[in-house]
This record gives sequence, C-alpha cells and structure tokens, in this order.
Amino acid sequence: MANETILVTGGAGFIGANLVRYMLASWPNARVVTLDALTYAGHTANLAGLEDGRHVFIQGDIRDQPLLVGLLREHAVRGVIHLAAETHVDRSIVGPEVFVQSNVLGTLRLLEAVREVAQEQPEQIRRVVHVSTDEVYGTLGAEDAAFTPRSRYAPRSPYSASKAGGDHLARAYFHTYGLPIVVTNCSNNYGPYQHPEKLIPLMIGNALAGEPLPLYGDGRQVRDWLYVDDHCAGLAVALDQGQPGETYLFGGANQTTNLELVTAICDLLDELLPRADGFRYGALITHVADRPGHDRRYVVDGDKAWQTLGWQPSHNLTEGLRKTVAWYLGAGAEWLAARRAEPEYQDWLEENYDPRGGADQ
Ligand code: NAD
Ligand code: TYD
Repeated sequence: MANETILVTGGAGFIGANLVRYMLASWPNARVVTLDALTYAGHTANLAGLEDGRHVFIQGDIRDQPLLVGLLREHAVRGVIHLAAETHVDRSIVGPEVFVQSNVLGTLRLLEAVREVAQEQPEQIRRVVHVSTDEVYGTLGAEDAAFTPRSRYAPRSPYSASKAGGDHLARAYFHTYGLPIVVTNCSNNYGPYQHPEKLIPLMIGNALAGEPLPLYGDGRQVRDWLYVDDHCAGLAVALDQGQPGETYLFGGANQTTNLELVTAICDLLDELLPRADGFRYGALITHVADRPGHDRRYVVDGDKAWQTLGWQPSHNLTEGLRKTVAWYLGAGAEWLAARRAEPEYQDWLEENYDPRGGADQ
C-alpha cells in the first residue's frame, strides 16, 4: 500500500489526523484522501501543514454513499481505513441516536460503496480496515484474563453497542460479499490532537486553568493506554498485510487506574510547569458522580497482532505520557486553548459535569 491512494474516513479527528500524518511520513509515495464531516470532534487544524499535493481533504458525511462511491472511483482508492464515528461514551449516554446514525448506518453506507465499486472493478480495493474498540467486549473484573479476538461481544454503553453493530456489518460483508475487510479493536489511545473532552487532554487543560480534575466514582477503573503513533503503526500494517476476515487487537500493554494516570499527569506538570506559588496540581483532583454503567476494566491481549503482523507497542506509559504532556504544553498549547474555547465544548462541560457535583465521595 506504500505507493497507493488510501481513503481515511474520520481523518480530521484524533486518531485519524495522527494516522494521516503517520502514513504520509512513512510512505513517501502514498497519497491520502481524508473524508470527514467535521463534527464538533473533527477539525482541519488537526491536519494543518499537510498541503503537499499528496493529501486531499473532503468534507462530507460517511452516510453519503454516492459521495463515497465517487471518491473511491475518482481517486482510484486501493485501501480504506474507516475511523469516522461518534466516539465519546458520555455523549452516547446523553444522546445515543447520532451514534447509531454514524457508527452503524455510516459503516453500512461505506461497505455498500465499497461493494458497488468492487462489482465494477474487483481488483481495485485491496483492503478495508474497519477500526473498532475493545469496549465491544464489555467489562472485565480485576482478575479476568485480557480480551482476545475470540472474546464474546458484550457491549454495555450506547457507544460500544453502536461500534459492535458496525463490526458485525463489516464481518458480514466479508463473509457474504467477499469484501477484503480486516477488523481491528484497540484499547484507549492517547497523544497529540485528542479532543479535550477526553480524559487526558481534559485533565491537562483543567490543571493549567486551575480547575478541578473530575474523576468519575472512585477512579479505580482500569484502562490499557496505547500511544496513538503505535496504534497508527498497527493500522498501517493491518492495511498492508492484514488477512481479510481476520480481527486484530491492538493493546498498549499499559494497565493503569484512572487515579494513577491523573496523578502521573499532575506529577509531570509539577515537573515541567511548576507553579510559582508551590501549589501542586494533584490537589485539584476531585471525585464526582460516576458514569452510569461505567465499565470497570478493559485490557487487550495483543498476542495475535504480534504473532501474525509483527506488531507491538513501542511506548510504555511513562514515555508516552511525557511526550503527550510536553506536546499539550508546547507545540499543541494554542491548539488546546482553541478547542477549549469553542462554544460546543463549553456547552458540553455544563451538560456533563454540572449535574455530577464536585464533592469528594
Ligand atoms: P474522534 O472523535 O477524535 O474523531 C472522529 C472523527 O470522525 C471526527 O473527525 C468526526 O468529525 C468524524 N465523524 C463523526 N461522524 C462522522 C460522520 N457521520 N461522517 C464523517 N465523519 C464523521 O475519534 P478518535 O478517537 O479519533 O477515534 C477514531 C476511531 O477509532 C473511531 O471509530 C473510534 O471508535 C475508534 N477507537 C478510538 C479509541 C480511542 O481511544 N480514541 C479507542 C478505540 C477505538
Ligand atoms: P474516556 O476518555 O471517555 O474513554 P473510555 O470511557 O472510552 O474508556 O475515559 C477514560 C476513563 O476516564 C473512563 O474510565 C472514564 C474516566 N473519566 C473520568 O474519570 N473523568 C472524566 O472527566 C472523563 C472524561 C473520563
């Protein structure tokens, strides 16, 4: 795929923007077409500096099948990485409908577009990577083994249910129509250009503003954090070498509780941006009301990705978190301030956090 044209859906979002940058940098002969609706989560600023003739940005909705067919044909696309989705669990609790629209119906429209083009040009599209989440497997107890590609689907939030719906359609299109679909499910990503309503940039931004750092419930929920560039490397190899019909799990091999993670962010801020008044950022940590149906623990077994694709993450959380905090304090500081100033973001803070209260629990 290194010399081909690749369509990235959702490429103006967090993982998408990092992926587009990663592919253009790693594959000097590749061309990338980015399709993104530019919802509250997507921004052309995430793709700034990529105007070098090998990248085309198209604003459009993933549910627009004629648009997709036109793009696949016009750009003679050989590979697709499908990221476009609504992605925030808390937003899915407030308003599930748009999650079904984008994540289920949107995936169906993309698959139909690929099917239409494959009927005319069976050799054109070599692979479609459908990007999903470990959350489709539900929640783990403290002692449970990590998710594997054979784990049972058991989604528990409207977000993960909608992603599961998209995954089932993607697999169905491999079995029924023989489309070259590869499914990937990854753990929580972190790194540059992540929207500040997600945990890590939220905590960095709030700490810098001297605002409370809202931890849901007891803060002992466990996530397996994957540095976004490592995920991008996995997606590139899945696009290039993934076996159609197969599922690959990408994990960070970095299990930690939310409380430990936020404490580590505060320690980094104390080191990189110490406050003149001696105030320690950790004092801002505040327990707030828990998320309804909050999944307790996700951990991914990355053995298959290692055995079959030769992929494993190259950043541990200490390294990745340091790079990430340094980006939001440095090159990404203006970006973070601009996203936090957006009216939609301010509305979200009010809607999501005001009802949770702020007293320690
Ligand atoms: P994000 O919310 O930052 O970006 C999603 C992008 O999709 C945005 O640019 C948005 O404008 C676009 N989009 C949304 N609805 C659209 C529509 N109807 N048509 C076209 N574009 C639309 O999300 P992200 O964190 O970059 O996640 C990307 C993908 O990876 C998603 O499919 C998500 O489920 C999956 N994933 C993310 C994580 C994570 O930790 N971030 C973990 C596992 C899986
Ligand atoms: P999030 O980034 O929303 O990812 P997900 O829920 O998909 O794993 O949240 C990561 C974890 O952080 C999750 O356990 C919820 C928790 N969290 C908080 O404690 N406070 C917050 O303000 C946010 C946004 C998340």
